[in-house]
Amino acid sequence: MTGEVLALIEKLAAAHSLSLAEYRALLDGRDEEAAQALKARAVPVRQAIYGRDVYVRGLIEISNICKNDCLYCGIRRSNPHADRYRLTPEDILACAEEGYALGFRTFVLQGGEDGYFTDAVLGGVVRGIKAKFSDCAVTLSMGERSRESYQYLFDQGADRYLLRHETADRAHYEKLHPAEMSFDNRMRCLRDLKEIGYQVGCGFMVGSPYQTSGTLAEDLKFVEEFKPDMCGIGPFVPHHDTPFRDCPGGTVELTCYLLSILRLIHPPMLIPSTTALGTIHPLGREMGIEAGANVVMPNLSPVTVRKKYELYDNKICTGEESAQCRSCLEQRMASIGYRVVTHRGDIKK
Ligand code: 5AD
Ligand code: FES
Repeated sequence: MTGEVLALIEKLAAAHSLSLAEYRALLDGRDEEAAQALKARAVPVRQAIYGRDVYVRGLIEISNICKNDCLYCGIRRSNPHADRYRLTPEDILACAEEGYALGFRTFVLQGGEDGYFTDAVLGGVVRGIKAKFSDCAVTLSMGERSRESYQYLFDQGADRYLLRHETADRAHYEKLHPAEMSFDNRMRCLRDLKEIGYQVGCGFMVGSPYQTSGTLAEDLKFVEEFKPDMCGIGPFVPHHDTPFRDCPGGTVELTCYLLSILRLIHPPMLIPSTTALGTIHPLGREMGIEAGANVVMPNLSPVTVRKKYELYDNKICTGEESAQCRSCLEQRMASIGYRVVTHRGDIKK
């Protein structure tokens, strides 16, 4: 590690902010020693706010039907090999019931942009969960919708919304998405969600095709300025039925480096150690927590559909029951000295 990189790490830890050029230099100067130095600052910062608690969210993958055609994604509409499914409102309620019994107090409903989930249908599901489990938070992760729709769902009781920005660089965004998708609309969605009052999560893939230290610097600056409640990052993992099938995937090292940086940029932020990170390394999720993340999101989807929600190849946890993932993660976190806690897990501000 050069003196310049160490100085940047100190500056980031003190000011929670760097210039674009400085973020780029911090990324370009990455080596093992720099990663350790970042971690050594990020972990105590997380510890001071969250102790050794790891928040848990139950992820329910409600549909893999999607009108979009993102070039990286296994459930893009032009993948004819995706075996499509959607859960009924009754199925979703049943998943939430199972999750509640297992101690989950946050449910994340995630899916493709499936026209079946109109405001009336999705709003009904949100109302149903909130009526039955008033001590739970409902998080939606259902893609781009109108401001009116976001407002309606918020009024039905949705607490949080996850929408990864994917990349904060317009030209890069356009290389990852077909022409009919718009960077401006994605950013509009995030702003609307925040203004409406949701706790908002953004995020990006690490090592996506055409990503550079320059585009990553823009992601970091965006997070610094937008100050989301949550930021989800995970390695890009190629999917065999997409145009990016032959592109290299993201690495554990760069993902963990970025997790530490994110912790220093916005100390209270909820940062998941993702399933994608667990997919590319058997101890990926543990390493993510040890780099500064503080959330895990085990799968609560019915085992019958898990394999079908295949955004990328070799996704883990597709054969396990919800209870198995729940106890697996508890043991994994305990093995590194952390404790999975089961309250709603709101951001500490
Ligand atoms: N590799 C890793 N992450 C992916 N996602 C979609 N496709 C892939 C892939 N091939 C991520 C996107 C999306 C989230 C739900 O999953 O960032 O926002
Ligand atoms: Fe699903 Fe370990 S978290 S099996």
